[in-house]
Amino acid sequence: MKFSLSALGLAALSTASPVLETRQNGEGNGPFGPAHYYTNGGLNGHTFFAPRNIPQGAKLPVMVWGNGACSADSLGQGPFLHQLASHGVLIIVSGTPRGGGSTNADMMRRAIDFITREAGRGQWSNIDASRITAAGFSCGGVEAYGQINDNRVSSIGIWSSGLLGGYDQARNFRKPVFFFMGGPSDIAYGNGERDYNYMPGGTPKWKGNLNVGHGGTYHEYNGGKFGTIGARWVEWVMRGNSTAGQYLTGEGARRDGWQVVSQDLQNLRVNPI
Ligand SMILES: *[C@@H]1O[C@H](CO)[C@@H](O)[C@H](O)[C@H]1NC(C)=O
Repeated sequence: MKFSLSALGLAALSTASPVLETRQNGEGNGPFGPAHYYTNGGLNGHTFFAPRNIPQGAKLPVMVWGNGACSADSLGQGPFLHQLASHGVLIIVSGTPRGGGSTNADMMRRAIDFITREAGRGQWSNIDASRITAAGFSCGGVEAYGQINDNRVSSIGIWSSGLLGGYDQARNFRKPVFFFMGGPSDIAYGNGERDYNYMPGGTPKWKGNLNVGHGGTYHEYNGGKFGTIGARWVEWVMRGNSTAGQYLTGEGARRDGWQVVSQDLQNLRVNPI
């Protein structure tokens, strides 16, 4: 099945109001929470989601995120991103709060350039840029795929997305890819399935389907079930907590309704941060 960029535009949902809405939608229930977001003049056109409560000496890995519909509104998946950040990751989102227009893969690359340059210094002294995950929802997932050959990127997160062309690329993926999909009614379902199946043996891959369709649960309190599994993914794949990984590979995710398959996860090695 093919789908077009304009079809992915269906994933665009707008959010209306600021601080109050964030509170109502949850600010993340993780051990580093609550989370918040801010912009920084050093990296125009982007938004940082970060935990507020970072213990002395703790380090944060990095995730770069592309929004659904490649929308430049960085609050598009806000509740979900707060939840992930509160579990101990700095997220750099392409786009600004309630910003208009579109993002592209080059903006995600600029976020990687920025944080690899700044990590370990000043305001960014607790950032560990040696472990960067590129991820995104729908059209934003395609932006994340665009970073897979960047040496600075360790793994990829595909949320209701898949390659829109050049499908054979997936046959050469050498980095772990995690697919979080919305089941058969998700417009990206066929693309995600195909990419997962094309990936070569030896490369770690994991795929879960939750039958909620393309829109996911990003807007539910703390990101709903996508927030729950995303938090465990952050702890495991970005922070090296293998106990958290058992949620994705064991009964936890299945009990929550995810249909899971995986391969070669024994080759996924992340040192605890
Ligand atoms: C590892 O993850 C589990 C499950 O989420 C959590 O309960 C535990 O506190 C985490 N351990 C560390 C060291 O972060």
